[in-house]
Amino acid sequence: MQENTQASQNEQASQEEQISQEEQISQEEQISQTAETKQAEAEKQAENQANNSQESENQTTHFGYKQVRIDEKAAKVADVFHSVAGKYDLMNDLMSFGIHRWWKSLTISNAKVRAGDSVLDLAGGTGDLTAEFSKIVGKEGKVVLADINSSMLAVAKEKLTNKGLVGNIEYVEANAEELPFADEQFTCTTIAFGLRNFTNKQKALEEIFRVLKPGGTLMVLEFSKPQNKLLSKAYDIYSFAVLPRLGKLIAKDSDSYQYLAESIRMHPAQEELKSMFEKAGFTQVKYHNMTGGIVALHIGTKGSN
Ligand SMILES: C[S@@+](CC[C@H](N)C(=O)[O-])C[C@H]1O[C@@H](n2cnc3c(N)ncnc32)[C@H](O)[C@@H]1O
Repeated sequence: MQENTQASQNEQASQEEQISQEEQISQEEQISQTAETKQAEAEKQAENQANNSQESENQTTHFGYKQVRIDEKAAKVADVFHSVAGKYDLMNDLMSFGIHRWWKSLTISNAKVRAGDSVLDLAGGTGDLTAEFSKIVGKEGKVVLADINSSMLAVAKEKLTNKGLVGNIEYVEANAEELPFADEQFTCTTIAFGLRNFTNKQKALEEIFRVLKPGGTLMVLEFSKPQNKLLSKAYDIYSFAVLPRLGKLIAKDSDSYQYLAESIRMHPAQEELKSMFEKAGFTQVKYHNMTGGIVALHIGTKGSN
């Protein structure tokens, strides 16, 4: 009798565990499906907008999955980075489990920058790439860290100065779409995790082409499209269920990390970005997927005349 009761209790416990596992799986599927549906809707809106070539005051662009007026986007992006600047480096380490350092070091090694070169670290933020380039180009070279956001520039300047990196770095507040530099100034330009935030990405690529010296290189390190369905689903769940919560906990700002997850999904995938490079005039354009395509490094050359 006692054995029967024990067996029935065990069965009940196992049924409850099964139900709870099923609920969790269904919740995760829901998060992943919602992300896919919202992304599809936002992409459709963006496509409709692009097809409507009529210039109008009300022309909009995407800010994550939201549609905003074109002239409002830069200010909205600025709000994001003013808000997170102080905790930006810590959040990067936490969110990527430190892997962003590896992505960046691969970018540096592929850049083939040498002593005496002049490098533009565009959308340079808190200066991770600038710091490494500053050591490579030495006293004869120069690194310009350009960013549209004064808070990010202030964090970069303090961080790099405290590391003793002075003398060959310039900090410039600038919009990538209207660079305040003369033609043919730089041997290499990098953009790490900046391009997806720009309002007019094509215009920025054309500006970079203009300021590069003949033979110069553009390297864009950016979130891209995972190449495997399973990885893509797991990544969706992580991005939409974990990142905004982590942002709330650490940076006291979940909206900015919701924007991060959404802006990644709205960014052109590998082949589309490659075509944008070519449209801007770059040749020998190639890309390397990293971490299964979660991130891609695009490289293009300004052919010498
Ligand atoms: C995610 S952070 C990347 C910072 C740094 N490159 C890194 O990899 O850690 C994106 C940076 O892009 C900058 N940014 C956004 N829109 C910009 C624009 N139109 N022109 C220049 N910088 C821009 C932001 O201010 C921010 O510092």
